[in-house]
Amino acid sequence: MSPSWTTLLPQVGRVVIITGSTVGIGLALTQIYYDTGATVYMTARNETKAHAAIYVITTASNSKICSTIKFPAIDLSDLRTITPFATVFLSQESRLDILHSNAGVACVPLSQRTVQGLEPHMGTNCVGPYLLTSLLSDVLVCTTGASDTAPKSMRVIWSSSLLVDTSAPSEGVPLEELENPSEDAIQITQSAKPEPGSLPIALPSRFMHETV
Ligand SMILES: NC(=O)c1ccc[n+]([C@@H]2O[C@H](COP(=O)([O-])OP(=O)(O)OC[C@H]3O[C@@H](n4cnc5c(N)ncnc54)[C@H](OP(=O)(O)O)[C@@H]3O)[C@@H](O)[C@H]2O)c1
Repeated sequence: MSPSWTTLLPQVGRVVIITGSTVGIGLALTQIYYDTGATVYMTARNETKAHAAIYVITTASNSKICSTIKFPAIDLSDLRTITPFATVFLSQESRLDILHSNAGVACVPLSQRTVQGLEPHMGTNCVGPYLLTSLLSDVLVCTTGASDTAPKSMRVIWSSSLLVDTSAPSEGVPLEELENPSEDAIQITQSAKPEPGSLPIALPSRFMHETV
């Protein structure tokens, strides 16, 4: 079978995390991986929506390969929910082949701060996924070096936006907007779609130790 945009080769033995799997791109991605035999962790903040999504995925599947799908709750706008997930994940899995940080918000009211009081787009799209990635970085590195991992097959993916290519600030994530956001919803949305390269340098010392 040749791979296409929506058909992956079997992924048996591989472990995948997809955030924001209840609807949209995350739901479609979860469906694709479920059909490949991977162990799929579909994270979501809303249990009812997650179980509805699992029903849709499992009943629609024609796959003959046996897959596992797990629903752990994470609310990326509440950093306190992320470490417990990572702890449980690491107690259950010895590898992580794909981490897809897909969950995100756009154009929500700026007054809707995260639980830790951060600007909602920055907090949900950047800080939460960055913490998740950091907590899982060791297992990602181990997976890359494992003897049963195909070369260059491990992936850390962030769902971003065309806005990053067209109009995100060239100097990277403007961290001052975490606490003092622009009033312009488009500006804050384009600032808060991650440019992963800039996050590791900027975030840890400033926020992580204070909030989790
Ligand atoms: N679709 C587009 O045209 C487009 C364009 C540019 C960028 N993007 C980005 O691509 C990604 C997927 O797009 P989409 O259209 O599929 O988005 P979507 O339909 O709005 O779905 C977003 C997902 O993120 C989850 N989510 C939101 N806030 C969360 C939080 N605090 N904690 C955990 N999960 C949370 C949502 O969960 P709930 O169901 O609980 O709300 C939902 O599952 C997003 O990051 C989006 O910003 C999409």
